Amino acid sequence: MQVNIALKKVVDNSYDITIDTLPKIHFDTKVAIVTNPKVAGLHLAYLLSKISAKELYIITVPDGEEYKNQKSIDTVLESLFNHRFNRKSMLIAFGGGVIGDMTGYVSSIYQRGIDFIQIPTTLLSQVDASVGGKTGMNNEFGKNLIGAFHQPKSVYIDPYFLNTLPPREFGAGVAEIVKMAVTFNKEFFEFLETEDLKDTAVLQNAIRQAVQTKADVVAQDEKEHGLRAALNYGHTFGHVIENETGYKKFLHGEAVAIGMVMANETARKMNLMSEDEALRIKNLLQKYNLPTEYKIKNVDTFYETFYLDKKSSDSAITFIIPAGIGGVEITDSIDKSTIIEVLNAFGEL
Ligand code: NAD
Ligand code: GLY
Repeated sequence: MQVNIALKKVVDNSYDITIDTLPKIHFDTKVAIVTNPKVAGLHLAYLLSKISAKELYIITVPDGEEYKNQKSIDTVLESLFNHRFNRKSMLIAFGGGVIGDMTGYVSSIYQRGIDFIQIPTTLLSQVDASVGGKTGMNNEFGKNLIGAFHQPKSVYIDPYFLNTLPPREFGAGVAEIVKMAVTFNKEFFEFLETEDLKDTAVLQNAIRQAVQTKADVVAQDEKEHGLRAALNYGHTFGHVIENETGYKKFLHGEAVAIGMVMANETARKMNLMSEDEALRIKNLLQKYNLPTEYKIKNVDTFYETFYLDKKSSDSAITFIIPAGIGGVEITDSIDKSTIIEVLNAFGEL
């Protein structure tokens, strides 16, 4: 005997991403702003001049990637239970990608899912993390290994918040912008080569183009069955670098910048990229003081660490390799010897 449960429903999770000065918004429900002390100190007063709600609560968790964990999730959940949040209540993620990912994750599990909106305050979270509904946290086994796809109801990107961002954090965000341009948008890459992101109008334009690029990819492949994996260009190598350096030496975007250079060298070996294209990408990264060099201590260990990547299976490592500027290939069939040759160029022979 069989009972069929018909679940072929079309669910419309579409949402708008507003890139502009934050508008005034009133919520006729309970709302919790989830943030950290640093972002709250810098920008909560501004946010509260814009946001009002039937009941408004502020929940803070400690600042830093090391706090993107179950303890912080529990802090937020307990506060929601204490304030009797219900399924009509709303969360606001107010901070960088760490806050965005955790708030999204809490909203995906609290009472089996409530709404949230993203108000990202770092460049990286404005151009990447706040868009596309990947939420989650870290545990002792690795980064972002626990999570859910849960799309926000809307995203408000106000470049004003970036005025207080330290230069290295700004650079880390630029790395993700370059990632989007190299993989999907040649004209955008040329725009980045000729324009200066320190200019407010240029920055706003670049944020729009990066977000549009990511939105187009997510619209085609929300749950990363294929194309969306291309947004991990530079990350397969970058994650190993972060892992090897104990997540201390490089910001994520900085490790990704080095990872993109390594992916480009792989593309060169596969005749997918010219020397000139690889140099143009390196120059663009260096224009924003991003690192492009890394000394690998042990090439074999570096290679083995690829297997920890979420995209890898027991037997194959998935690499995201640019096909020139504006194109990309997702492949799990690159010979180990090709990768080792690339890695050797970054390490002791
Ligand atoms: P972050 O959230 O740790 O922010 C970096 C630092 O900047 C923090 O100290 C933060 O408090 C501070 N900060 C935030 N806004 C500021 C402002 N306006 N002025 C001054 N300081 C400010 O790091 P991040 O780079 O924003 O995000 C990285 C996280 O995002 C990682 O956990 C990564 O896994 C995640 N991520 C998620 C996605 C996704 O699709 N969900 C994509 C990329 C990255
Ligand atoms: N940052 C990669 C993605 O959102 O898929």
